[in-house]
Amino acid sequence: MPGLWRYCVHAGVLAVLFSDFLGGCGYATGGCGVRFVFSGLGRGVCTSTFGKPASRFGQGGQIASAQCAACHGAEGNSAAPTYPKLAGQHADYLYKQLKNFKIAEGADKALRENAIMAGFAAGLSEQDMRNVAAYFAAQKTEPGFAGNKATLAQGQAIYQGGIAEKGVPACAACHSPNGAGIPAQYPRLGGQHAEYTSAQLTAFREGLRTNSEPMITITSRLSDAEIKALADYIAGLH
Ligand code: HEC
Ligand code: HEC
Repeated sequence: MPGLWRYCVHAGVLAVLFSDFLGGCGYATGGCGVRFVFSGLGRGVCTSTFGKPASRFGQGGQIASAQCAACHGAEGNSAAPTYPKLAGQHADYLYKQLKNFKIAEGADKALRENAIMAGFAAGLSEQDMRNVAAYFAAQKTEPGFAGNKATLAQGQAIYQGGIAEKGVPACAACHSPNGAGIPAQYPRLGGQHAEYTSAQLTAFREGLRTNSEPMITITSRLSDAEIKALADYIAGLH
């Protein structure tokens, strides 16, 4: 009897371990009467440490490949410069954007107006938005590069030091000197397509994107040439 007991414990624990690695987190079946005690315990551990991230990720990845990959790339590194890279962006920031593309209850327009993304965000539930944000946040950002040597020094000076006489703060103060951002509020900028970054800075300035007070104030003090120089410098920042 003690021998059988030990076998059951081992089998139960092993079954749980294996099912964790296989991603199923389910009960193993077999002829051992005592196993449920251990597999029950294992399952508790399993759902709190392995189960949730695994399944959350699975669903986020499925949404990404079915609905987002065409524009943003399967791993969030878009090819076209008008579609932002999402890979490596902070999950809370991505989630907030998806929420801001939707028209909130009682509002007459979205905080971030974009016809394409309004459509895609509308189809996502709260949980879908969390899942797909977690998926893209976990992917690796493909580095980019600056394309305009003539404006590089100007872009760098504003990004790292601001423009004192115009009251423009250093971008680095919130987005970090290497452009990685500071979770959860301040998004990663480094490596982003210049065309997209420049369009966003203009959208903040022109009132199309109204979801950030500091960015509205800052961009109201930037000229078109300064925006272009910043966006190009940011594309190569890492
Ligand atoms: C048809 C092309 C297209 C598809 C498909 C698409 N997007 Fe987008 N996405 C865009 C464009 C264009 C923008 C830039 C919007 C703007 O200018 O405000 C964008 C912006 C975003 C942003 C904001 C990124 C940032 O840095 O602020 C997020 C988040 C996002 N998309 C998530 C998704 C998700 C999740 C899906 C799938 C459910 C998806 N998109 C599908 C075109 C697309
Ligand atoms: C006081 C803090 C602060 C400073 C300084 C700041 N930003 Fe931001 N920035 C933010 C916040 C917060 C957001 C996120 C807005 C949101 O939630 O939609 C943001 C968003 C952005 C975005 C949109 C990113 C995307 O993926 O769509 C760009 C581009 C940007 N900032 C560029 C800059 C540049 C360039 C500067 C310097 C001229 C700068 N920021 C200075 C706080 C700051």
